[in-house]
Amino acid sequence: MTSILITGASSGLGAEMARQFAELGYDLALCARRTDRLEELSEEIGREHEGHGHPAPRIVGKALDVTDHASVFRVFDEFADELGTLDRIVINAGLGKGARLGTGRFAANLETAMTNFVGALAQTEAAMEIFRRQQRGHLVMVSSMSAMRGMPSSMTTYAATKAGVAHLAEGLRTELYGTPLGKTVKVTVLYPGYIASEMNEHVEQKTPLMVSTEKGVRAMVAAIEKEVGDAAVPALPWAGLAPVMKHAPLAVVKRLI
Ligand SMILES: NC(=O)c1ccc[n+]([C@@H]2O[C@H](COP(=O)([O-])OP(=O)(O)OC[C@H]3O[C@@H](n4cnc5c(N)ncnc54)[C@H](OP(=O)(O)O)[C@@H]3O)[C@@H](O)[C@H]2O)c1
Repeated sequence: MTSILITGASSGLGAEMARQFAELGYDLALCARRTDRLEELSEEIGREHEGHGHPAPRIVGKALDVTDHASVFRVFDEFADELGTLDRIVINAGLGKGARLGTGRFAANLETAMTNFVGALAQTEAAMEIFRRQQRGHLVMVSSMSAMRGMPSSMTTYAATKAGVAHLAEGLRTELYGTPLGKTVKVTVLYPGYIASEMNEHVEQKTPLMVSTEKGVRAMVAAIEKEVGDAAVPALPWAGLAPVMKHAPLAVVKRLI
């Protein structure tokens, strides 16, 4: 496996995945709307590799708004052409905007739904077209621990989108199970807990469960490299909390959140 496409690579988990996969020797296809950030990241990774005397990975960066669906298909195909193959595609672009339902902020919830769910659907379709053509590939979906349960207030729509993308991925895995294509096309769903990034800057002070971007992404990259089906990351404490969040009565869930 040599090349990885990461969406939402301009900050947070996506940018750090790019750094860590580059360390492992992968070529990178990076996209997001803020292309200045992608350029800075490519230069940083190039400098880092020069400093260590390793050959720098190939890095191709492109502008992509995942809510512009035609562009998702075009940009993914351009990456596949330019890098020869795409061995792994990480659907990571996401938005944490949201508001309590029925409070006049439909626009924020709609933007989150269009980015995190419909945008991810377009990315999954584009990725699977490429993997069907190649007859192989690894699809990675970045869901969230919030997908374990319906979440209150500003998290409601966000959590629903993250449950939705996890089901898209699981549906695909079920379809592929026991088929010839299922031997060469793998699907992983990651459920991150709190990992420091731009999205949760405001949460940082409030929870002792927040880990650094570097540490959280190490756990993500390790799970991706193992091609596991599902992983709560970092495993401690999230793998233990996942069944509790999924099955505990509402009164308990409400106290946990
Ligand atoms: N950090 C956590 O604790 C945590 C926990 C669970 C799940 N997640 C998930 O992890 C993923 C990465 O989030 P993060 O925490 O790293 O947040 P972040 O720092 O805000 O990064 C979000 C990334 O998504 C991109 N993005 C947003 N809207 C986009 C659009 N319309 N088109 C293309 N790219 C778009 C952003 O790039 P541009 O703005 O440049 O386009 C940015 O690169 C998200 O799916 C998030 O839901 C994060």
